[in-house]
Amino acid sequence: MEFDKVIERRVSVRHYSQKEVTIEQVKEIVNAGRKGPSAKNNQPYLYVLVNEKQKQKIVEEMKKIDPIVEPSIQDSARCVEEASRLLLVFMQYDKIYLRSNFISLGASVENCCLKAADMKIDTLWVRDVIAIKGFIDKLIKPPKDYSIESSLCLGYRSKPPYRKKKKPLREVLVINK
Ligand SMILES: Cc1cc2nc3c(=O)[nH]c(=O)nc-3n(C[C@H](O)[C@H](O)[C@H](O)COP(=O)(O)O)c2cc1C
Repeated sequence: MEFDKVIERRVSVRHYSQKEVTIEQVKEIVNAGRKGPSAKNNQPYLYVLVNEKQKQKIVEEMKKIDPIVEPSIQDSARCVEEASRLLLVFMQYDKIYLRSNFISLGASVENCCLKAADMKIDTLWVRDVIAIKGFIDKLIKPPKDYSIESSLCLGYRSKPPYRKKKKPLREVLVINK
């Protein structure tokens, strides 16, 4: 797909059909994610593709969270449940590079989103999973120093997604002449 079209196609999708994303497709997507830039080339991320049983446990745990404390979590849980696949994204903790590592993780996840868009696979970036951090760390047992920081739903849209309004270029770009 032409690059600008890939960027346009990428949108947060919150309603998914039952069509499956294959493990081979997930590999292709994360392969794009691992090629992203990272501060000091730290590559401080680990993607874990959960199985259906683990995905359901995560959904159930998210649904237990009081929406007064985390207003968007119930809707995020529904999206995770509907999506074909859930990739958990763990970040390596590093006191000195903490902020850079967050940015690097974001760059990697965005590469995944764009690769998925190019493959006509839809995504939803879900950070709400950190509300059940303790539960996920226990369920997955990531390597020492890694903890859950994000997740990515993968699937196929069941209806046209709602497009959020973006700020115009003049509000996000200052050109000093
Ligand atoms: C770091 C990050 C965390 C996000 N976490 C959530 C989330 O937990 N639940 C959710 O529904 N959407 C989440 N989103 C999606 C945003 O709401 C979405 O990107 C934003 O509204 C812009 O819409 P668009 O992606 O369609 O351009 C997250 C996005 C980012 C970049």
